[in-house]
Amino acid sequence: MLITVNGKQVDVGAEPDTMLLWVLRDNLKLTGTKFGCGIAQCGACTVHLDGNPVRSCSTPLGTAAGTKITTIEGLSADASHPLQKAWVEEQVLQCGYCQSGQIMQAAALLAKNPKPTRAQIVAHMNGNLCRCGTYVRILRAIERAAKSSAPAKKEA
Ligand code: FES
Ligand code: FES
Repeated sequence: MLITVNGKQVDVGAEPDTMLLWVLRDNLKLTGTKFGCGIAQCGACTVHLDGNPVRSCSTPLGTAAGTKITTIEGLSADASHPLQKAWVEEQVLQCGYCQSGQIMQAAALLAKNPKPTRAQIVAHMNGNLCRCGTYVRILRAIERAAKSSAPAKKEA
């Protein structure tokens, strides 16, 4: 089956009912996307289909075919996405396991709403769990990224 991942078309030898997570990790070796719960309850496996965040552990390959799939590896060419920079600046990581899913979830928000309120961020990120409890740093990093991508103010 032909799919488009991170801007490249690839032919993966998998059945349409195979979950996208396993195609990404096992067939394509894109291991930045993690397996957490396997039942769409934690967000560790979050990727984008046409810019929308989905749980790849519960998304069949057949559903993803025909969309543009983006994983953490394709978010930017050189880790220069404002969220990736902000994650480093705020030292968000603890064990790191949940964090690619967190960033992908946040990236979908900022793409649609570049200046979210804290309440909007909390609501959007609500389903992404972090066992290490890095939630406050995640919020700070998203707010930092939103500020850093602000359009330059016009000179008076
Ligand atoms: S592994 Fe997919 S939501 Fe938990
Ligand atoms: S950083 Fe460890 S689970 Fe989130």
